[in-house]
Amino acid sequence: MKALRAFDGAGLIAATASHATVIAELHRRCFDEPWSVFTVRQVLAMPGAFGFLAVEENSGMADPGLLGFALGRSAAGECELLSLAVAARQRRRGIGNALLAAALDRARRDGVGRMFLEVAEDNAVAQRLYRAYGFRQVGRRPRYYRRPRGEAMAALTYAVSLQD
Ligand SMILES: CC(C)(COP(=O)(O)OP(=O)(O)OC[C@H]1O[C@@H](n2cnc3c(N)ncnc32)[C@H](O)[C@@H]1OP(=O)(O)O)[C@@H](O)C(=O)NCCC(=O)NCCS
Repeated sequence: MKALRAFDGAGLIAATASHATVIAELHRRCFDEPWSVFTVRQVLAMPGAFGFLAVEENSGMADPGLLGFALGRSAAGECELLSLAVAARQRRRGIGNALLAAALDRARRDGVGRMFLEVAEDNAVAQRLYRAYGFRQVGRRPRYYRRPRGEAMAALTYAVSLQD
């Protein structure tokens, strides 16, 4: 296992299709509209797709002890952050920061001009993280996310320029 970035007893590794099951499991625990293993595999197989996993240091590849993940895709001069999540008990130790920084580094290396993402209008925690990295709201999609009791929640589109 090659750690891409170390932080507080954990590190980042690149995601591959072999991690689809653990990513889908964590996605299910973090979001109301879970992605299946098949969907995660499809996402990782898209041209320009990439993923980073936050894992405890010294954990093996067979059991990556997944703490968090970021999935993105660079295409047509832009990068979309497709999903970002940290296991509930592992939050507030800098993992979300490290994953987002790694995705932004990757997008810059891909030579794209900007990164964009969608975030639920009521997700103040994630919005605060994104704003700290220079993301700003550029759009709003009403009734975009469906909540367990059937209510709908708007998505805000955020973007950041990657050109210095
Ligand atoms: C958003 C999320 C990825 C942040 O992960 P994390 O590992 O806790 O983040 P970090 O510890 O690196 O903190 C990053 C920043 O997020 C913000 N933040 C995190 N937790 C917060 C909280 N409870 N209250 C307010 N701000 C918070 C802060 O700006 C923080 O920076 P700071 O520590 O310098 O103040 C995590 O809360 C999560 O997985 N949430 C559920 C899934 C989700 O909403 N994903 C984003 C979908 S768009």
